[in-house]
Amino acid sequence: MKLVFYGAGNMAQAIFKGIINSKKLKSHDIYLTNKSNEEALKNFAEELGVEYSYDDEKLLQDADYVFLGSKPYDFEKVAQRIQPFISENNRFISIMAGLPINYIQEQLQVENPIARIMPNTNAQVGHSVTGISFSGNFGPKSKEEVIDLVNAFGSVIEVNEDHLHQVTAITGSGPAFLYHVFEQYVKAGTDLGLGKDQVEESIKNLIIGTSKMIERSDLSMEQLRKNITSKGGTTQAGLNALSQHDIEAIFKDCLNAAVQRSVELSKNEDN
Ligand SMILES: NC(=O)c1ccc[n+]([C@@H]2O[C@H](COP(=O)([O-])OP(=O)(O)OC[C@H]3O[C@@H](n4cnc5c(N)ncnc54)[C@H](OP(=O)(O)O)[C@@H]3O)[C@@H](O)[C@H]2O)c1
Repeated sequence: MKLVFYGAGNMAQAIFKGIINSKKLKSHDIYLTNKSNEEALKNFAEELGVEYSYDDEKLLQDADYVFLGSKPYDFEKVAQRIQPFISENNRFISIMAGLPINYIQEQLQVENPIARIMPNTNAQVGHSVTGISFSGNFGPKSKEEVIDLVNAFGSVIEVNEDHLHQVTAITGSGPAFLYHVFEQYVKAGTDLGLGKDQVEESIKNLIIGTSKMIERSDLSMEQLRKNITSKGGTTQAGLNALSQHDIEAIFKDCLNAAVQRSVELSKNEDN
């Protein structure tokens, strides 16, 4: 299987490194290109054994999957660059946020199968939650192949294209929302009088440990919480204080705002 990446930036890197680490493909079946930063491509070739080129005809020839990994506002140029060389065997996987499948097809002036994926930055550690949706002409075997590739850098959730907005909010932007919550936890912890470094290190380990509990336990998060909340104890006191604030409403606002922005961006072809 031959993969080509148009764009070798932060997100594309996390994806092709994940695929290489998973040993699903040999490095030399992965071809990279970018706009002009040849130094970066040379370094990837030396470090990972991948191929690189600026010859679009050679790149697209026999390419099974072509990742579209530029920023959305650079896509028109990418489309102009590759359009003359697209063959009917090329299937496209767009990682560009907000660009609808029919817009990508319009720009490429072809009706080849297109998948859209919405990964998050946890792809860097093999733990992206990636939303995926496929154009109607994506065959079942190809779908399986793409899902298998995406599993190389985390887990997959298949949704209708319209629901990618919700995935973008919940898990695409999700790491930033959780970082923000943890930042507030560190601030509040530091205000109790311990040193900031000490609090930060403790909370980092608290988050890692709690994540592992969620991962390894069969219990729901609600049950895990209940299991450590004794009546009249310290945890109960803290939770009572939290319940004076409408935390659910706060997160609803946060996610609704992110969904709304994703919808707005998808309607604006200059994004
Ligand atoms: N970062 C995230 O958390 C995240 C999450 C989900 C989705 N995404 C999506 O991932 C995409 C890439 O984001 P990023 O953060 O990885 O961006 P980035 O680091 O800026 O990388 C963009 C890449 O696109 C290349 N490029 C630009 N114009 C090109 C052209 N005409 N032909 C070929 N390659 C071209 C750039 O090449 P040069 O280096 O030569 O300029 C660079 O390699 C975006 O569409 C974004 O919506 C990102």
